[in-house]
Amino acid sequence: MPRLFYGALVTPTSRKEYLALPHSLLCVSDAGQIAWVANNVLPSDLQNELARHGLSDDPNLDLVELKTGEFLMPGFIDTHTHAPQMPNVGSGQQYELLDWLQEVTFPMEARFSDPGFARTTYETVVRRSIDCGTTTCCYYGTVHLEATKLLADIVHSRGQRAFVGKCNMNRESPTYYIEPSTEESISATRSLIEHIRSLPASCPPDSPPLVQPVLTPRFAISCTSDLLSSLGDLARSDPTLTIQTHISENASEIAYTKVLFPPESLPPLPPSAGEASRKARDTYAGVYDAYGLLRHNTILAHGVHLEDVEIEVIKAQGAGVSHCPTSNFNLSSGCAKVGALLDKGIKVGLGTDVSGGFSPSILRTVQDASICSKVVAMSAPSKPDDSDGFTNRQLPVATLLHLATLGGAEVCGLGSRVGQLAPGRAFDALVVSIRTDVGNPAVWSADLDARLDVAASGGELGYEGGRGQTETEELEGMLERFLFCGDDRNVRRVYVQGRLVGGKEYTM
Ligand code: GUN
Ligand code: FE
Repeated sequence: MPRLFYGALVTPTSRKEYLALPHSLLCVSDAGQIAWVANNVLPSDLQNELARHGLSDDPNLDLVELKTGEFLMPGFIDTHTHAPQMPNVGSGQQYELLDWLQEVTFPMEARFSDPGFARTTYETVVRRSIDCGTTTCCYYGTVHLEATKLLADIVHSRGQRAFVGKCNMNRESPTYYIEPSTEESISATRSLIEHIRSLPASCPPDSPPLVQPVLTPRFAISCTSDLLSSLGDLARSDPTLTIQTHISENASEIAYTKVLFPPESLPPLPPSAGEASRKARDTYAGVYDAYGLLRHNTILAHGVHLEDVEIEVIKAQGAGVSHCPTSNFNLSSGCAKVGALLDKGIKVGLGTDVSGGFSPSILRTVQDASICSKVVAMSAPSKPDDSDGFTNRQLPVATLLHLATLGGAEVCGLGSRVGQLAPGRAFDALVVSIRTDVGNPAVWSADLDARLDVAASGGELGYEGGRGQTETEELEGMLERFLFCGDDRNVRRVYVQGRLVGGKEYTM
């Protein structure tokens, strides 16, 4: 039996534009795919529209009617986070990256050698991520195989779409938290991949499974050349395997990477290698590229201090960047120049990077991505002449929405499957409410309250916008207020592949 949603809908269409549709009727198939979307269906036309689809006479019709102040939007995509760091959120922000890893992060991650601790922690982490509206999440686990299998199992049973990876780290890590050899690191990685690929399918047969494995060399510093080389071989043997790692986050990290991987130490480039690969040999990106770890399905977190030749090789290999502004501010890493990446045509999504970032919510990341773009714009000596570009300009709401949804989907290889509410895509979606009765006074709208008063006193719920706005403009305003002042109280229902998996109205 198909399910229908009737009401306001917001969805990105490109990096610069989105649709705000006050009266949509969206149909979800039994398989959780969006079957069709009809726009401009006024209440008086609803029955006719249902009849056009042969649905009007069905007494069991499953029709969800959204209320005034509610809207549907695609779920958030968190392209970079660390599940085992959630217990640390809000601690250790006095450090920069390398000290923070040693003092705060590795001690916590080491505790996941205990499967009991892993299970209870990961149950909370996954529930919290879903309830923040994240329908697809790219998770780093720890070095521990058992704990990371548990993370994958929990994500699978909770119904979130996700990539789950076990960190590879066999050097420059504390003795209590390091893999003993390349062989053991690779063999545990293979076991995790097998485990995740043997989880029961919960998707239509022609779709990728909801939970997928991801190769996770933590960052170049934590891997020997031998390990990077073996991971490159593993990646080459399976071009569908997604890869995630960190890049160019912090000045000391970059300098140390260059010390550990001088260009003469890298494997020689094949004769087929392009110009961009040759030029980037002595850079951070050049290290991943030399080991075959920079490709169309690589997710590079941070990219705060990328050099031009690195941007070129990232573009040439088709890798994507996870912008993690909350973390980049919190660990004093810097402001990534996302506008310039967008202008180069690089795929960009958002990452919470818990617990470098102190919130698991992509909403917080959206807010910081906006501020970051303003800091970059204010510090830029001049604006480029090209007024259509993003470089050195503040990111508009349409672009922030894109980064949080469709842009993130592109970064993790799901750009044709999720991130947009459109026919043929999975119904990975949120029902958002900015009504006062959801208990978040920050998202307050005088116009909306005026309309609700009219309704409460039995009046016609026609459009009475206080500032003479159109309904579309009012919906755009609701989206902006949600993005900037909303939190998980406003995320009422979270759907993945058509299944209700979380949100404030969800009860297990
Ligand atoms: N680089 C290597 N490991 C980490 C990590 O856990 N968090 C962040 N932000 N950067 C890293
Ligand atoms: Fe990170």
